[in-house]
Amino acid sequence: MKKILVTGGAGFIGSNFVRYVLRERPEWHVVVLDKLTYAGNLSNLRDVQDDPRFRFVQGDICDVDVVDGLVKEVEAIVNFAAESHVDRSLLDPGAFVQTNVYGPFVLLEAAKKHGVERYVQVSTDEVYGEVLVGCSKETDPLAPRSPYAASKAGGELLARSYHTSYGLPVIITRGSNNFGPYHYPEKLIPLFITNAMDDLPLGVYGDGQQVRDWIFVEDHCAAIAFLLERGQPGDIYNVGGGNERTNIEVTRLILKLLGKGEELIRFIGDRPGHDRRYALDCSKLHALGWQPQHTFEDALARTVRWYQENEWWWRPIKSGEFWEYYRQNYGAKGLEVEVRT
Ligand code: NAD
Ligand code: TYD
Repeated sequence: MKKILVTGGAGFIGSNFVRYVLRERPEWHVVVLDKLTYAGNLSNLRDVQDDPRFRFVQGDICDVDVVDGLVKEVEAIVNFAAESHVDRSLLDPGAFVQTNVYGPFVLLEAAKKHGVERYVQVSTDEVYGEVLVGCSKETDPLAPRSPYAASKAGGELLARSYHTSYGLPVIITRGSNNFGPYHYPEKLIPLFITNAMDDLPLGVYGDGQQVRDWIFVEDHCAAIAFLLERGQPGDIYNVGGGNERTNIEVTRLILKLLGKGEELIRFIGDRPGHDRRYALDCSKLHALGWQPQHTFEDALARTVRWYQENEWWWRPIKSGEFWEYYRQNYGAKGLEVEVRT
């Protein structure tokens, strides 16, 4: 094997996946297609750029010609490309429909035309909507509640339809909340680490009692590579870390790891339609023989260290456009926004 197309490979999870695959699958070649939106960053791929098994193409998954030219070269596609931030989906849902629904359509058409051996649609536990008790199983109905989650549900439903209608070998993964190196600092964990490092306030939405199941990004990437090889075409797999934590627990742990005080915490206005809890039943994936390798506490400590040691990566991101978004999102929630550039 195997030449694979990794779309969105300059983003957080995609770039970790590229690094993982080049290290763990020495016979694989990787082509990345990425538009380099605000969330895409070539410095995420700095340490693999000279690998002869790696190639980068800047382009849009909605561009039929670019996609067609690349898909005819590869045996498999792993689609990470997406607009990925719930808060931004509340401000500008159109971009989410375009990339997260129309984008998979363009990729699926090319996959069908060229007969790829596997198409992996990287989806999310957010398609189930909030789950107040119990854990979501792959057979549960979808009930997405944010424009982000709804657009991801649209993308994966389309992918499934290409399996049932055309026999395309589609695999869908529904991952829980990832964290780790190269995580864009608008999301909870990297935002709070980098804000706390600068003694800026940590804006906890609502009462901070919302629950997420956290998975270390390397575990998520390992599961996707495993399912690319071992998943059953047409099937859906939950991929969770088994680490349910409230947001306030995560916030306090970050402050402790950084040696900072809890006076940085501000309880601010809530996210509209904020999902209270996500939780996944991952027994289907575990039955195939896969388990996460990292504990939440160790992986979070490693992540905090990474941000401390890699200011070169995140400081340039926290400038310009980032603060415009930050002011808009957090100003509306009543956080007094102090910007340091
Ligand atoms: P991210 O925002 O960090 O990265 C997205 C990448 O896609 C960026 O590099 C961006 O430039 C690229 N991109 C956006 N629109 C594009 C387009 N039209 N054409 C080509 N490239 C485009 O996101 P992430 O956190 O790495 O998430 C990756 C995938 O995993 C997404 O599909 C997301 O829905 C899914 N997911 C994320 C999480 C999480 O916790 N972050 C959990 C489960 C699933
Ligand atoms: P986030 O990282 O945006 O991921 P998602 O919304 O996809 O789960 O947020 C994780 C949780 O943290 C979510 O419940 C919203 C909350 N949150 C805050 O309380 N404050 C923040 O500044 C951010 C970004 C998130």
